[in-house]
Amino acid sequence: MSDEKPVADLPKVELHLHHEGAAPPAFVRQLAHEKKVDISKVFNAQGGYAFRDFVHFLSVYEAATSVLKTPEDYARLTTAVLEESAANGVIYTESFISPDFCGGGDVTAWREYLAAIQEAAQAAETAHGIILRGIVTCVRHFGPDKAKASALCAAETAGDWIVGFGMGGDEGQGHQGDFAYSYDMAREAGLRLTTHAGEFGGPDSVREAIRDLNVERIGHGVRSIEDAALVQELVDRQITLEVCPGSNVVLGLYPNIESHPIERLRKAGVNVTVSTDDPPFFGTTMRREYEMLHKAFGYDAERFVEFNITAANAAFCDETTRERVLKQLETA
Ligand code: ADE
Ligand code: ZN
Repeated sequence: MSDEKPVADLPKVELHLHHEGAAPPAFVRQLAHEKKVDISKVFNAQGGYAFRDFVHFLSVYEAATSVLKTPEDYARLTTAVLEESAANGVIYTESFISPDFCGGGDVTAWREYLAAIQEAAQAAETAHGIILRGIVTCVRHFGPDKAKASALCAAETAGDWIVGFGMGGDEGQGHQGDFAYSYDMAREAGLRLTTHAGEFGGPDSVREAIRDLNVERIGHGVRSIEDAALVQELVDRQITLEVCPGSNVVLGLYPNIESHPIERLRKAGVNVTVSTDDPPFFGTTMRREYEMLHKAFGYDAERFVEFNITAANAAFCDETTRERVLKQLETA
């Protein structure tokens, strides 16, 4: 028997995690009970989240999020999420946090939510060593006007903790370029940029993201594989993909992990990293992602260390934090 450590035990860097999407179902059920909100339709018979397809997933996500009503709720959520991430060996994570859900886009309310999240994150760092940084995120299907309010929240709180601006939501609605004003505002405030593209949108959505929003990372981006010239462009521009294999399989982009393009993208020279997206929704964890990839593609510890160094180098944090993370990866 090999005495090598299982790959799932490695320390991990996660770049693509939705704050509410990481909420354990039991946590959401408890909050719903406390607040007397009926969200029974959100759950299946086994108590997990229930959805049919991507658009339905987005509406179930928003229904689950509706129980998070105060900064204190977000502090509790942050504690629950980071305990779970730390238990999965994550040492550094960036999470998507939406002012739409935290104060409805009002800057004063947003600051209160953010302060509560940061305080809980600091406590988790002290207790478990895990580092969290925030990416303010607008929601594509809420439209460009709401995105501007989110970008203003982002710009007002940009710094060592809020380090990026991003966009999630339904890629079927509008175009990346509709959000250029918000992205410009975030860039001018010193924030680093990412957006969801090439998940439900094809290669054109990735091209639009690069051309119209000038992002340096792409959330998913996996459908770039359908266009060889685009793959080369990702390599030439050193754009990092936040790849979430389990999410892509559960949402039906690929029938199984073996047919996921992560290995073809990696072989082509694209900077790929591994994340979970919305782990309890997709029945995954960072440990499970590593186990699945190990089984499907034979990835060994060396390969995962490579992914993690790529992720640390693409992280939006300051250089001192990056050095701390890289040192932990090296010494593990
Ligand atoms: N919001 C939460 N998860 C998402 C995903 N996988 N794609 C787009 N928006 C999201
Ligand atoms: Zn996502």
